[in-house]
Amino acid sequence: MMADEWLMDCESPEATERLAQRVARGLRGGEVISLEGDLGAGKTFFTRVLAHALGVVDNVASPTFVLQRIYAVQDGPVRTLFHYDVYRLEHYDELADLGFEEMPDDAVALVEWGGKFVSALPAGTVRIIFEVTGDEERRVQVLNAPAGW
Ligand SMILES: Nc1ncnc2c1ncn2[C@@H]1O[C@H](COP(=O)(O)OP(=O)(O)O)[C@@H](O)[C@H]1O
Ligand SMILES: [Mg+2]
Repeated sequence: MMADEWLMDCESPEATERLAQRVARGLRGGEVISLEGDLGAGKTFFTRVLAHALGVVDNVASPTFVLQRIYAVQDGPVRTLFHYDVYRLEHYDELADLGFEEMPDDAVALVEWGGKFVSALPAGTVRIIFEVTGDEERRVQVLNAPAGW
């Protein structure tokens, strides 16, 4: 396995929380993360934990119907978290129209269902792929993880 590819078993929600907290610590701004996997796999759960680990105080809800939610981060290198859910989008252009490509350098974007548009997403996009392996178990693959995560 290449160093920038991880495969792990998150045998409980707490294990997924630890992963999200670890990813949050590694963020420097400018990252785009595609969250993939079936409905109920843990994409929103992961986002909620990561957001709170960064210091987002707002309630983090799925942007399924609104496409985009924007959260302010209190301090640290990341100042804004953009949370997308592109499940309902048919064309990548609809994401671009939301300003996705003009995000500030100190922002991070999490894109639920980003796998739909993976060839249109930036080259450095990190892919986190959740597979349901049991009621409380998820197999998680991280592709293109930056050095130091
Ligand atoms: N190991 C685990 N990792 C992540 N979520 C888990 C795990 N085990 C159970 N769950 C539950 O699975 C659900 C995932 O829901 P959600 O994050 O909304 O899915 P998605 O956004 O992928 O559709 C949550 O209710 C969460 O508590
Ligand atoms: Mg979701």
